Amino acid sequence: MRFGGLLTLIFVCSVDTQNIGKFWHISDHHLDPYYNAEGQNPIDVCPSSYGRESANPGPLGDYNCDSPWELIKSSVHAMKRLHANPDFIIWTGDDTLHTSDQDKYLGPEKVLEIIGNITAVITEVFPDSRVFPAMGNHDYHPKNQIPPGGSVIVSALAGMWEHWLTKDAYITFRQEGYYKDTVPGSENHIMMVLNSNYWYNSNKAVDGTGDPGLQFRWMKLSLESARVNNQKVFIVGHISPGYFELVSNFRMLWYYSEFNNRFISIVREFDDVIAGMFFGHHHTDTFKIVKDTKGNVISSMLLAPGVTPWATTLPGVVDGANNPGIRLVEYDKDTMMLTDYVQYYLNLDEANQQSEVDPASLWKEEYRATQKYGIPDVTTTSLNSIAKAMREGCESKDSVCPTSFNNYHVLNTVSYNKDPCDENCQKYHLCAIMEVEENGYNSCMDNWGSDAIRPTAHLSGIFMGLIVYANIV
Ligand SMILES: *[C@@H]1O[C@H](CO)[C@@H](O)[C@H](O)[C@H]1NC(C)=O
Ligand SMILES: [Zn+2]
Ligand SMILES: [Zn+2]
Repeated sequence: MRFGGLLTLIFVCSVDTQNIGKFWHISDHHLDPYYNAEGQNPIDVCPSSYGRESANPGPLGDYNCDSPWELIKSSVHAMKRLHANPDFIIWTGDDTLHTSDQDKYLGPEKVLEIIGNITAVITEVFPDSRVFPAMGNHDYHPKNQIPPGGSVIVSALAGMWEHWLTKDAYITFRQEGYYKDTVPGSENHIMMVLNSNYWYNSNKAVDGTGDPGLQFRWMKLSLESARVNNQKVFIVGHISPGYFELVSNFRMLWYYSEFNNRFISIVREFDDVIAGMFFGHHHTDTFKIVKDTKGNVISSMLLAPGVTPWATTLPGVVDGANNPGIRLVEYDKDTMMLTDYVQYYLNLDEANQQSEVDPASLWKEEYRATQKYGIPDVTTTSLNSIAKAMREGCESKDSVCPTSFNNYHVLNTVSYNKDPCDENCQKYHLCAIMEVEENGYNSCMDNWGSDAIRPTAHLSGIFMGLIVYANIV
């Protein structure tokens, strides 16, 4: 018996029993069909520039503009070249251009046409892949104002995406813009796709109270049923709870306050069931940690960067552009544990110079999460260890510190902004990463710099840092 036990142990340790799957996470394509790089005047290259000058517009885009069609097309063909047979694709929304004059450049038909264009290219390039689209706040006209209970646009989207939806998913999507299904290739597990726009504080079709579209009720019932059936759940949506890490001058919770609290309390109740959460909307590469009421880290979300390079016009953001990104996530198909992801990107400036080359071949690996951050996987524990290391600083100035703040900061804009992240910048990022709740966030922002929150340089030895950190969370 003892011998048999030993053999079993050797077997378990030496054979790779993980059954690794891969899926694409793409987001925020924001097609600007009016983009014209040949434009005479630098302020007329695209309506999405809001009158800002496009210094160097090229065939694949400009950092002050939303995506030209060439960029979107190349991103989908790049996905095919880089990993042609994903288990599935999650697509977290926002397809139309940002513009100061919505009614001039957009309307219900134009919004549907743009989403239809992107749906068509994804379907054409990935005819055999299941795609899980989530509605973004720019997938409606007027933007953000998605009413509970159904609408012409949401019905039309259900029709447009019917080939990706099961019958049940089609029915709930058509009514409320959310749905669930089993995970292709991991049929014992659940994909839950949210209509996070119902909780968005810019959506005036809801008032921030109650349960729009009964989505919270549906979430809870679905998570309860998953728990009973021993299923794990991936949660997919456009807008995440918590804060935007680039905004400096006001404290903006994306969701209505009551909805933010409700979402977090559901995550706390079902942290054992939720295997991963995936969002877009920021256009940046970041993540968020969820803690229980005692401050213990219990869950996390991965935010994938956008395809659009568009520099945000949000007040308080200095240079909010990014390089276009697409992300391949790796997971254990049996347990749904997140094992890694690879971030691919297009260096837009360089790509615009290479007009002779197929642009799909210019998308390159930016980094692999486990390698770049020196973590074993991309689970909550590992993501939290990145945040912890960023908070406590690097040990040695000479050695490459994979978790140093500037390392993360460059990745945050998909290797667009290489400026160092100063103390204020670090505060905005880390408070948004560590605190998805109002009280915790305000206290993080207010107390930043005091030793209790962030040890000063001489205290940042690993053990001191750990002790200080352990005392405050
Ligand atoms: C987008 O869709 C419209 C309507 O189907 C079509 O006329 C147009 O050519 C499409 N644009 C692109 C870039 O595919
Ligand atoms: Zn967006
Ligand atoms: Zn958005």
